[in-house]
Amino acid sequence: MKAGLIGTGHYVPEKVLTNFDMEKIVDTSDEWIRTRTGIEERRIASDDMDTSDLAYEAAVSALNEAGLNGEDLDMILVATVTSDMGFPSVACQLQNRLGARQIPAMDVSAACAGFMYGVITAKQFIEAGVHQNILVIGVEKLSKITNWEDRNTAVLFGDGAGAAIVSNVSEDRGILAHELGSDGTGIPYLHQTDEDVIYMNGREVFKFAVRKMADSSLNVVHEAGLTKDDVDYLIPHQANIRIMEAARENLEIPVEKMSKSVDRYGNTSAASIPIALSEDVKAGRIKEDDVVVLVGFGGGLTWGAVALKWGK
Ligand code: ACO
Repeated sequence: MKAGLIGTGHYVPEKVLTNFDMEKIVDTSDEWIRTRTGIEERRIASDDMDTSDLAYEAAVSALNEAGLNGEDLDMILVATVTSDMGFPSVACQLQNRLGARQIPAMDVSAACAGFMYGVITAKQFIEAGVHQNILVIGVEKLSKITNWEDRNTAVLFGDGAGAAIVSNVSEDRGILAHELGSDGTGIPYLHQTDEDVIYMNGREVFKFAVRKMADSSLNVVHEAGLTKDDVDYLIPHQANIRIMEAARENLEIPVEKMSKSVDRYGNTSAASIPIALSEDVKAGRIKEDDVVVLVGFGGGLTWGAVALKWGK
C-alpha cells in the first residue's frame, strides 16, 4: 500500500483587501508590507460564510478532481484553528453536507502546519489498509481571530480553504518520506490570547521558521533516498516570502520551481499549502512523476514536511 494525493481543490473568498486598504485600518504602508512579507493583498470571507462553508467549497472541488462522491470517502480530517464553534468539528459538519457515510471525522489543530499533520495522519490509515479515500482539508477564517488594531499581525493573514484526497496510489508514486514535530516552548511566541485574537512575536517566529523550513525539507529529501537535484517543485507554507526564499535557497531550487501565492492571499495558515498545491496542479506546474516537497511550520510551535512523487 502506498498513499498519495489523487485530487486537489481550493476556495478563496471573493472580497480582496489590498495593502492600500490596510493603510486605512492600521498605521502601515504598502511598501512596508510588500518588502517585509511579499504580501500585496489577501481575501476576507463575508459574515455569512464561516470556516465550514469555505471548507465545503474546497472539498467539492477536490472530490470532483478525484472523480469521487461524498459516499466514497472513508474518513474526513480538517486542519483548522478557526472552527465555526468549539464543537462539533468542521469535519462532522462536512460529513453531513457532503453526503458521506457515517465515517470517522475529526479536526486537527496544528496551526499553519495542520495540513501536513492531516496528510501524514491520513497516510497511516491508507498504508495500514484500513481506509481507501480520505479527505484532508486545510481551512481558516483567520479574519475572525485577527486583532484589526495590531499592525504587527493584522497585515499578515487571510481566509481560504484547500483540500486533497489521500488514497492508494501505485508503489513508485505517492508519499516517499515525511517529518512532523512540535515544540511547546514556543507557545509564548505565537498563540491565541484570552481575547481570542492572534498574538505573535514576529522576530522569534521568523528565526524558528527559517531554521525549521530548511531542516525539515532537506530531511525528507534525504529520508526518501534523494538529493536536492531530484526535487522538481517546492511548496512552502505561504507565510512570508523571505522565509520561503530561505527554504528555496537551502534546497538550491530555481525561483520558478517554488510555489508562490503569498502575494495574493497572505498567510492563510492551514489552508496555505493545499491552496498552493491545488493552484499549481491546475496550472500544470506540477506534472506526473515530479518530486514535490511540501513544508510548513506554525503555532505550537509545529512543523511538518513531505516528499512525494506526484501521480496515481
Ligand atoms: N507596518 C509598518 N511597520 C510595522 C508593521 C506594519 N504592518 N508591523 C511591524 N512594524 C514595525 C515594528 O513595530 C518595528 O518597529 P520598531 O523597530 O520601531 O519596533 C519594525 O516594523 C520592525 O519590526 P520587525 O518585527 O523587526 O520586522 P520584521 O522584519 O521581523 O518583519 C514580520 C515582521 C513580517 C512579522 C516577520 O517577523 C515575520 O514574518 N515573522 C514570521 C511570522 C510568521 O510567519 N508567522 C506564521 C505563523 S502564523 C500562525 O501559525 C497562525
